[in-house]
Amino acid sequence: MRFLARFVSQVARLLTGIEIHPGAEIGRRLFIDHGIGTVIGETAIIGDDVTLYQGVTLGGTGKEKGKRHPTLGNNISIGSGAKLLGNITIGDNCRVGAGSVVLRSVPANSTIVGVPGHIVLRDGKRVIITDPKDIRDPLSDVIIKLAAEVHELREKFQQHSHEALGAEPNLTIDEGGSTPNISPQDLFQDDYQDYQI
Ligand SMILES: CC(C)(COP(=O)(O)OP(=O)(O)OC[C@H]1O[C@@H](n2cnc3c(N)ncnc32)[C@H](O)[C@@H]1OP(=O)(O)O)[C@@H](O)C(=O)NCCC(=O)NCCS
Repeated sequence: MRFLARFVSQVARLLTGIEIHPGAEIGRRLFIDHGIGTVIGETAIIGDDVTLYQGVTLGGTGKEKGKRHPTLGNNISIGSGAKLLGNITIGDNCRVGAGSVVLRSVPANSTIVGVPGHIVLRDGKRVIITDPKDIRDPLSDVIIKLAAEVHELREKFQQHSHEALGAEPNLTIDEGGSTPNISPQDLFQDDYQDYQI
């Protein structure tokens, strides 16, 4: 029986360029657009109304045993060339951008793009990444270090400007009771311009 299932899978692969492991669980109305290059691994589970474009891989990372392929909920669209790897879960109504590499589970109603994949839209709202750690890219550490350095330099710069300009001078001049309010910028115009970036 196993042999027969494998045989059918391999013949289908030869004819369509789509490889679906016979062990995969597939829901209703799966649509594989264009076909070629799509791979669905042995322990993958696919819900209802899912669309996969060409070149999509629901694969393993090579590090896991047992359930090692993704689980997709219902009403999901996976863009061309996207790779979903490992025993992760993609929630209902998600959209995965073309060319993305998704390595972590994703909550329902999200749009994920990039390598590694990160959420850009959730429940219809834009998700702004403010912490480089959220991208979980190997380069995130470099970005974090750079951000810390920029912060440190900005603080030094502000400190230096403050020292150069000195504390707010007391510019009170008694001219018949009027006290002109001269700003440090006006007073040290030449120096001040040196510190403009
Ligand atoms: C992911 C996708 C569904 C998002 O569509 P959307 O909801 O209209 O979202 P937007 O186009 O507004 O994109 C949101 C952000 O993600 C970025 N983005 C979209 N798709 C991306 C992708 N595949 N890779 C990287 N970034 C992507 C956009 O540049 C945008 O960022 P910005 O606002 O900073 O400029 C769509 O871009 C996509 O990739 N669809 C797959 C289509 C496909 O595979 N077709 C094959 C036909 S053969």
